[in-house]
Amino acid sequence: MRSLLVVSLLTLSAVVLAACDDKRSNPSAVAPAPVASAPATPNARPFDPGQLAVFAPLPASIERPDNLLTPEKVALGQMLWFDKRLSRGQDVSCNSCHDVTRSGADGVDAAAVSTGTKKRKTTRNAPTVFNAAGNFAQGWDSRASLVEELVVAHAAEPSTMGSDASHLVEVVSSIPGYVASFKKSFPDAKGVVTPETLSMALGAYARKLLTPSRWDKFLGGDEAALSTEEKAGLGAFMDASCTTCHAGKYVGGAQNQKLGVARAWPNMTDTGRFEITKQEVDRGVFKVPTLRNVTKTGPYLHDGSISSLEVLTQMMARYQVGKELTEGQARSIVTFLGALAGDAPKDLVQKPDLPPSGPKTPKPD
Ligand code: HEC
Ligand code: HEC
Repeated sequence: MRSLLVVSLLTLSAVVLAACDDKRSNPSAVAPAPVASAPATPNARPFDPGQLAVFAPLPASIERPDNLLTPEKVALGQMLWFDKRLSRGQDVSCNSCHDVTRSGADGVDAAAVSTGTKKRKTTRNAPTVFNAAGNFAQGWDSRASLVEELVVAHAAEPSTMGSDASHLVEVVSSIPGYVASFKKSFPDAKGVVTPETLSMALGAYARKLLTPSRWDKFLGGDEAALSTEEKAGLGAFMDASCTTCHAGKYVGGAQNQKLGVARAWPNMTDTGRFEITKQEVDRGVFKVPTLRNVTKTGPYLHDGSISSLEVLTQMMARYQVGKELTEGQARSIVTFLGALAGDAPKDLVQKPDLPPSGPKTPKPD
């Protein structure tokens, strides 16, 4: 009886979440979704199983009908991801800031923001790209909705790769191995190497970087997949109302919210989505990030200002919910967050052999 109830609640939440995923209109600062209420259960548990309906397991794949994930295209995207020749100084690749051999973030624990081409500093902390393709929007400020939409403008930023669209096309078209690979991956595309096909290839690769974890097994009904301590932490996470913002398939990644909802967030300088929309209501509003792999992706927040997950958990409760957590409660929540970490497919997170430059390949400048 209880399992039937759980199954039907999970199905319901999957439908609701699928509907949310399709909503690309990207409303800023939408009201937090209410936590599903559920009847009391006969078993004593650290949480009410009905509450699990606000979560959902990772999908098996994040496909987009107009960018099919063929093996050729994904392999091409993987090469481009690791290729430093895409940056102006030929000194950084996408992987320099989104290191897929580690956490999909920049892996530099001490650095709040990342270092781009010619040692320039970015203005924000690099988020992990693991599972990012499934998030409702891209960037801390939700500036783009699909991964493919972000790539070219992102590479052109002076502080990341400093390579505008025409430079990217010039470099990639000068490398014979890439030209052959684009022909195989995009048999219908006229221009062979274009900003669009480049975005499609890198986007296809990013779409494959999913990290299923013990959490997904647990949501699938395997109670033993989480330890007693992790289940207690899940209970504390739900009691602290973290799920009003961090829920769904990605435990986040589904809405924008103000940083400092209950009380003003200390030392905020970044205006967040205000930069994009110029609307006063968007001042200090950011995408609620996924918490999958969060135990591996510090330092945290858009500015990388906090490096302790326990400290940040207490701050989230204080400033986002208006509750105080004890150190013990915060530690317990962090124990639960550890269960969200998973591994991306092994063959996709290795540096592939890159095709050699041709005679016309530009030198670094
Ligand atoms: C110098 C560091 C740097 C390099 C190089 C870099 N990025 Fe990023 N990336 C960032 C930062 C910082 C952000 C956050 C931007 C923001 O919100 O303002 C980001 C955001 C992203 C996101 C959004 C993820 C999310 O969860 O919102 C994706 C996807 C992404 N980058 C892909 C790429 C790709 C593909 C490349 C190579 C073409 C690349 N990045 C190169 C630093 C970098
Ligand atoms: C009202 C919405 C809201 C609530 C409630 C909330 N958060 Fe957040 N959370 C956010 C936003 C927005 C950010 C991103 C802030 C930024 O851009 O710097 C964030 C960021 C985080 C991060 C940093 C992730 C990263 O990759 O840098 C962690 C960890 C986190 N939250 C945990 C929690 C926990 C634990 C709770 C419950 C105590 C909680 N949050 C409650 C909105 C919320």
